[in-house]
Amino acid sequence: MALIELKNVNKTYETGVGTVRALKDINLSIEKSDIYGIIGMSGAGKSTLVRCLNYLERPTDGDVIIAGKKLSDLSEKALREERRNISMIFQNFNLLMQKNVLKNVYFPLSLRHVKKKDAEARAYELLETVGLKDKAKAYPAELSGGQKQRVAIARALASDPEILICDEATSALDPQTTKSILDLLKKINKEYGITIVIITHQMSVIKEICNKVAIIEDGSLVEKGKVADIFANPKSDASKRLIFGDVYIEKTPYDHDKEDEDLDENDQSSRENDKPNKEKKIFGIRFYKKKKDKDSGDEELVG
Ligand SMILES: Nc1ncnc2c1ncn2[C@@H]1O[C@H](COP(=O)(O)OP(=O)(O)OP(=O)(O)O)[C@@H](O)[C@H]1O
Ligand SMILES: [Mg+2]
Repeated sequence: MALIELKNVNKTYETGVGTVRALKDINLSIEKSDIYGIIGMSGAGKSTLVRCLNYLERPTDGDVIIAGKKLSDLSEKALREERRNISMIFQNFNLLMQKNVLKNVYFPLSLRHVKKKDAEARAYELLETVGLKDKAKAYPAELSGGQKQRVAIARALASDPEILICDEATSALDPQTTKSILDLLKKINKEYGITIVIITHQMSVIKEICNKVAIIEDGSLVEKGKVADIFANPKSDASKRLIFGDVYIEKTPYDHDKEDEDLDENDQSSRENDKPNKEKKIFGIRFYKKKKDKDSGDEELVG
């Protein structure tokens, strides 16, 4: 049985300017200990999907089933209990600026009336896990972005969740810091068996850490499966765009530069007119040609 199951989930918003179908018939199974990536462009519905996943927002219809429990069947109290099992971290860290690192980490435990001594001991343990024990008494303003995200991860783990959702958790970080946070998430997944759901618009994040991926476009999941399979053989245009990027340099069997040298001015213009025939659409993506300016030697993309 999958740990997280979404069945025919739809989410519609009624707005002043009309109806927005943010999620369209989403079906998704996430197994225990997966690191499952959900990737899509801005506005595709990623955050709506995770808000529906933990019932911070109720789907318009469809079922969300966590560890065999259908969330729509739960009372508000039971739902609050269930949500403790699902922690989240965000792009902007969401730390309490007036509290030091230690207090930020044990804050969820104090809400649950865990004794201060026990909560502190657990917070120190978690800070050790994320490599920040020496910053226990520092304030968030005194930390780097990567350190703040480590504190947020420690805090997210304080309630011993089974599921950790990361909504663009590395989007504000530089590549090296991103790598160190992804390594930490990998370690948490391996050592504690926590199932991780990663929301991102960066394919590099999926490649680095996820075993499975779902691609969301305009509210629909257009492709899902093992990362290795999707990278090897992407089927939807959306995954091809995300994997290969938007702009391609056409690889031609002939040398344009050589061809340019052989043409006189008239030929050049006839080649310009010829352009539409030379466009190629492969994978539904326009391929661009590289053209070298004869005088300056500068290269530009034409197409
Ligand atoms: N509360 C809301 N009311 C109305 N429309 C909403 C609401 N929340 C989200 N939407 C719309 O639903 C769609 C999906 O939004 P969502 O925030 O899930 O996208 P996203 O993939 O997380 O984007 P981003 O990468 O920019 O965070 C968008 O068209 C958005 O405008
Ligand atoms: Mg979002």
